[in-house]
Amino acid sequence: MTKTIKVFAPGKLMLMGEHAVVYGYPCISFAVDKGVTVELSKGLKADKVTSSVSDDRFINAAKGVFFQEYVCRRKPLEFLIKSEISGYGLGSSSAVTVATTFALFKLHGISASKRRIFNLSYKAVKNIQPKASGYDVATSIYGGIIVFNGKTKRVQKLGISDIPLLVGFSGAKADTAMMVEKVSAMRKKDPTKANRIFQDIGDLVSEGKDAILGKDWSRMGKIMNENQQLLSSLGVSTLSLDRMISASSEAGALGAKLSGAGGGDCMIALYKDSSKKDIEKALEKSGATLLPLRVSKEGVRAV
Ligand code: PMV
Repeated sequence: MTKTIKVFAPGKLMLMGEHAVVYGYPCISFAVDKGVTVELSKGLKADKVTSSVSDDRFINAAKGVFFQEYVCRRKPLEFLIKSEISGYGLGSSSAVTVATTFALFKLHGISASKRRIFNLSYKAVKNIQPKASGYDVATSIYGGIIVFNGKTKRVQKLGISDIPLLVGFSGAKADTAMMVEKVSAMRKKDPTKANRIFQDIGDLVSEGKDAILGKDWSRMGKIMNENQQLLSSLGVSTLSLDRMISASSEAGALGAKLSGAGGGDCMIALYKDSSKKDIEKALEKSGATLLPLRVSKEGVRAV
C-alpha cells in the first residue's frame, strides 16, 4: 500500500507591526482557521504536483531546501495541494511552504522541532522573496496569536485566541514585494522619518502585547488606530482600505487597521459585542467582503 501523508497548515493575518518587522522590530500576528492541505505520497515516475495554489515556486523551493539538507535517494513524489485561502493575502504561499516541508519530514520519518521546520521553510521562502521577515511562516507553524521578533526570528505564543476581530477583504490583491520596495525607497529618501516610524510601531507592538494579555480591548483598539496612522504615513494604505477602516470606526469599532503589506488585501476591526452587527453592515456597505475567520490555536499538523 502506498503511504500518504496529509498535512494542514493554517493561513495568517497580521495584527500589528507590519513593515517595521522587515527592519528587525517585533510584530504580532495570528493563525486563522482556514489554510492549505498537502497530501504527499510516493509517485510512479517523476514528481507530480496537482495544486489549487497558482504559484508552484514555493512547493519547488521547499522541496529544494529539504533535499539539500537531507541528501537521500530521490524517489518520485506526488503532491496534491488544496488551498482555502488563495487570493486574500492570508498567507497561502507561506502555508504551502510550511505544509510541504512538514509533509516531507513526515514521509521520510524524520522528527523535527518547530524551529527546524521554521528554518527550512523560511530558507525556501527567502529564495523567492529575499526581504520576507518570516512572520507568516512562523505563524503557520506555531498557530495562535504570536509575537514574532523580526531580528532573532524568535516566537512567543500569547496563549489567547478569543480576540474579537472582524476581517474585511478590500477586493484588491496586494503585491507584498512591491509594497516592501516602496517602503524601502521611502526609507532611502528619508531615513530619519522612516526609522522613527518603525521605532514607534515597535513601541506600539509591545503595548499591544500587554493589551492582548490583559484582554484590554479598548486599549488595544486605540493602539491599532495609532498603528494605522503610522502605516498611512509610510504610504501603504489605500483609499478603499481607508474607507473600510473609517466605516468600521464610525459604526463603533474599538480600533481598525489594514493587515499585511497594504496596497490591498484585508483590514481588521476590533469590536465589542454590542456593535458587531453595525460594524458588519458598515463594512459591507463600504465595499468590504467579510471573511468569516477565527484564530486557529494550532499550527501546522498532520490530519
Ligand atoms: O501581506 P503580507 O502577509 O505579505 O504581509 C507583509 C508584511 C510585511 O511586513 C510588509 C512583509 C514581511 O515579510 O513581514
